[in-house]
Amino acid sequence: MRNVLLIGGTGFLGSALARRLAGADFFLTLPTRRRDRAKHLTVLPTVRVVEADVHDEATLARLMAGQDAVISLVGILRGNFQRTHVELPQKIARAASSARNSAGIPRLLHVSALAAATDAPSDYLRSKGAGEVALKAAFPAATIFQPSVIFGRGDAFLTLFAALLKVAPIVPLACPDARFQPVWVEDVVSAIVASLANSASHGQTYPLCGPQIYTLQELVAYTGKVSGHPRPILGLPTSLSYLQAWAMEFVPNGPMTRDNVRSMSVPNTCPAGCTLPFGLTAKPLEAVAPGYLAAC
Ligand SMILES: NC(=O)c1ccc[n+]([C@@H]2O[C@H](COP(=O)([O-])OP(=O)(O)OC[C@H]3O[C@@H](n4cnc5c(N)ncnc54)[C@H](OP(=O)(O)O)[C@@H]3O)[C@@H](O)[C@H]2O)c1
Repeated sequence: MRNVLLIGGTGFLGSALARRLAGADFFLTLPTRRRDRAKHLTVLPTVRVVEADVHDEATLARLMAGQDAVISLVGILRGNFQRTHVELPQKIARAASSARNSAGIPRLLHVSALAAATDAPSDYLRSKGAGEVALKAAFPAATIFQPSVIFGRGDAFLTLFAALLKVAPIVPLACPDARFQPVWVEDVVSAIVASLANSASHGQTYPLCGPQIYTLQELVAYTGKVSGHPRPILGLPTSLSYLQAWAMEFVPNGPMTRDNVRSMSVPNTCPAGCTLPFGLTAKPLEAVAPGYLAAC
């Protein structure tokens, strides 16, 4: 297995995965909507970045020619969830299933989200759940990963809080009691890579979590301490959390929406004792985060 198509491979998780796979001599094809956003990956010797519309089924079929595996990573926190989280995985699964003169592509891996379910409280989680169902219907042997929030250099979570803490004298925090079990990006990459050639993972779904559960307030306080900008945190009640999120919806690419608040109403944690599959040991947040937050 050498040729891998990474759809959504130019983002935070995809870039880490691309670096790991390229380092192991895999040949990667990475479609993107804007090639200039993937400059950091074009320098990798076995990576081919191509501008393509992956929502177009003919394009998908072309991209899949000659691939041994497809990894589906596209995800959004706001926007058209039905198109991005449901229809796209379904198209990818159908294309993978009918590729290579109907013999199909041997491996399809898909990154969903922890707590994804068709009856979840937010559009994000419901669409991720519906995407899993659609993907599995078209490609039953697909392997699905459901990470909790992912941390690591370049994340959009702790790094964002660090930037906010740097300038804000006080942090009014929505959903302070929301629970997360953050998982290191390199651990998520390890799980994905381990499953590529592991036939026992066919058709399986793996929640991915770090070793410890934190409330959002604990994570923000920890980020402040480590980045050198500790600030008073004012936890907002639910009604004000929605009000703050509503106001942020008017900010282009703002950090929060009311749908995010609804996502945080359910714990983003793994079943007790379950963190990573394939005998992997999850790295603690405290062993990694100071290495990149201290410079923020
Ligand atoms: N980061 C986390 O904490 C976290 C936690 C749980 C689950 N996940 C899931 O993990 C996956 C990767 O997350 P990430 O943090 O790496 O995301 P990211 O950094 O935002 O990257 C998103 C990727 O999806 C592509 N993309 C976004 N919207 C698209 C659209 N409408 N059509 C086609 N491509 C589109 C982007 O490609 P271009 O912009 O190059 O076209 C990019 O490669 C997602 O499915 C996400 O839901 C992430």
